[in-house]
Amino acid sequence: MLKEKIVKIKQEALGAVEKAKNVEEILQLEIQFLGRKSDFVGILRQLKDVSAEEKREVGQLANSVKVEIQTLLEEKKKSLTSTFDAQAEKIDVTIPALKMRQGHLHPLTKIQNEIEDIFTSMGFEIADGPEVEDEFHNFDALNMPKDHPARDMQDTFWLKPQSDIAKTPTNAANKQHDTNKNTDARILLRTHTSNVQIRYMEKHQPPFRIIAPGRIYRNEAGDSTHEHTFHQFEALVVGDEINVGNFKFIAQEFFSKFFKKEIQIRIRPSFFPFTEPSFEFDISCTVCDGKGCSACKQAGWLEIGGAGMVNQNVFVAAGYPSGKYQGFAWGFGMERLAMMKYKIDDIRHFHSGDLRFIKQF
Ligand code: PHE
Repeated sequence: MLKEKIVKIKQEALGAVEKAKNVEEILQLEIQFLGRKSDFVGILRQLKDVSAEEKREVGQLANSVKVEIQTLLEEKKKSLTSTFDAQAEKIDVTIPALKMRQGHLHPLTKIQNEIEDIFTSMGFEIADGPEVEDEFHNFDALNMPKDHPARDMQDTFWLKPQSDIAKTPTNAANKQHDTNKNTDARILLRTHTSNVQIRYMEKHQPPFRIIAPGRIYRNEAGDSTHEHTFHQFEALVVGDEINVGNFKFIAQEFFSKFFKKEIQIRIRPSFFPFTEPSFEFDISCTVCDGKGCSACKQAGWLEIGGAGMVNQNVFVAAGYPSGKYQGFAWGFGMERLAMMKYKIDDIRHFHSGDLRFIKQF
């Protein structure tokens, strides 16, 4: 009789589990059929009163039924939690989809691309040079000998000399070898893109026109207009009869294309060891067109950067004969240009990694 009762419980359980509609009901059924107060457990308690043989048979049956019911409950629970209930979900197909966010170019990269497009359309080549540079290409060849005060214009990040690196424990074996001689070329992070002037001229002969955009480094404290790491772009045009008029024309063309409006150029006397004569140059204010406003502090002009006619000493350092060629060069900050174009008030935004800034471009 116990056996029949167990089989009956099993059938009831199978039917009930089949009909269960949610996880709560499953939990209820578990208690009802297998819980401490269930008929099933009641039957097991009666086992002590039956013969040894029946005890064994009923015991085995009870065990397999228990496992069967448990598995069934488990499976049903799984199917209920994974079932998609369209009725309950109530999908509104008219709701606009979530916007997919796509990556895009950094504002500085965009500016650089734009600059490169404008200059290549004017027949310029794009040149490149190393950011980790030697003293010769960053200073000496640009007419700045070792003790020249002009070097103080640009605070430099010097890199560890090779011999210091050789003194680290892993290189201790080399130490003996290196102590007596000082053949190291001093290495630094380039302080301007003017190193590319030398790098390019070492390998090419005039006439040519190039620009060289790139990252540069200066060991100085940051504020809203200064960063230790920023970008410049250099221009260098060399030929037999290049003059200041060519510079003004090319600069004016470029800035008018870049700001998509008529731009005037103004030059003021200045000093750079690698140019003679040297000048600072300004462009007419891009906000008020020269009338005077808060962006240009009522001056009507915005300072852009340094320029000049290439000093003959620079040509000589690059391997050209003195007096044979004329050229102009300039260099200015790309961040500043981007800030003017997009009206950005703090240079530190560019490298902040702040997505609220980046996403605006
Ligand atoms: N290299 C100069 C600077 O970084 C800019 C410059 C470039 C000036 C070329 C004249 C000619 O300040």
